Amino acid sequence: MEYIKLNNKIEMPLVGLGVFRIEDDQMDQVIKSAYEAGYRHFDTAQMYHNEASLGKACKQLGIRREELLFTTKIDNQNQGYEKTLKSFTESCKKLQVDYVDQLLIHWPGQDAKRTAETWKAFEKLYEEGLVRIIGLSNFTLKHISILEKSGNIMPMTNQIERNPFVTQLELIPALQAKNIAPIAWAPLRRGNCLNETIIKIAEKHQKTPAQVLLRWNIESEVMVIPCSKNPIRQLENLELFDFKLADSEIDAINKLHTGERTSFDPNTYDF
Ligand SMILES: NC(=O)c1ccc[n+]([C@@H]2O[C@H](COP(=O)([O-])OP(=O)(O)OC[C@H]3O[C@@H](n4cnc5c(N)ncnc54)[C@H](OP(=O)(O)O)[C@@H]3O)[C@@H](O)[C@H]2O)c1
Repeated sequence: MEYIKLNNKIEMPLVGLGVFRIEDDQMDQVIKSAYEAGYRHFDTAQMYHNEASLGKACKQLGIRREELLFTTKIDNQNQGYEKTLKSFTESCKKLQVDYVDQLLIHWPGQDAKRTAETWKAFEKLYEEGLVRIIGLSNFTLKHISILEKSGNIMPMTNQIERNPFVTQLELIPALQAKNIAPIAWAPLRRGNCLNETIIKIAEKHQKTPAQVLLRWNIESEVMVIPCSKNPIRQLENLELFDFKLADSEIDAINKLHTGERTSFDPNTYDF
């Protein structure tokens, strides 16, 4: 595993496991095989309704808490100062932890006052040592500017949709210039990114298309959190550090951009 150093000097693994849509009765097996494969960072959210099964699966494996990195995300309905603090406590209970490694605002929305208040709660949790990394998800530069004006602590991370069809080639360097580390969610485009260019590059490196998609992120210092229930594919998604893409291959992947998202556009959508 390789790591990236965040703006508060904490090191995060470049590859973590997303657990969106992992059902409660699948979690034990998914986490056991992922842990054995080498995953230490697990990405959940209040919205996924599986914090409790993730917490239980880790607990029963008997893994030392310090070995693991848990991410969870505050749901939109729980944004605001008091509601963030209250729902954070509930998340900790479900995860069976007394601190969370990374806490993210799941979706920015279009209410600047709410964003600023939520961030104040994040800063309090960080200052009290209850969260080690405070960050964002789906934030654009417009949303980040709210925190730049009202906040005291710059976010450490921003988890965004990124795949060859949504390359985020402007946002990523802009985040990195602000010392906010990008994380690509759904880096495999939820299994729907098979493309001739990617297949050819994969064949050349004797790697799989999924490994090419993940490597393309890593080479831009973008963390990835692919989800797989399958032990073989979990392992495959970690075997990324024995090959390197040529600049021309990265350019060819970048050219696949169509702007077609798998989810909503955070510039306009709110819920
Ligand atoms: N912040 C946000 O708003 C947000 C939004 C969406 C997702 N996320 C996070 O990002 C994580 C990943 O996103 P995602 O789960 O939606 O999609 P994804 O990781 O892009 O794709 C997952 C799909 O790809 C398949 N897959 C995994 N590895 C593969 C491989 N090596 N070869 C071929 N297929 C493979 C999986 O099937 P198998 O299980 O059968 O392997 C699954 O169907 C989520 O779990 C969640 O933690 C965050």
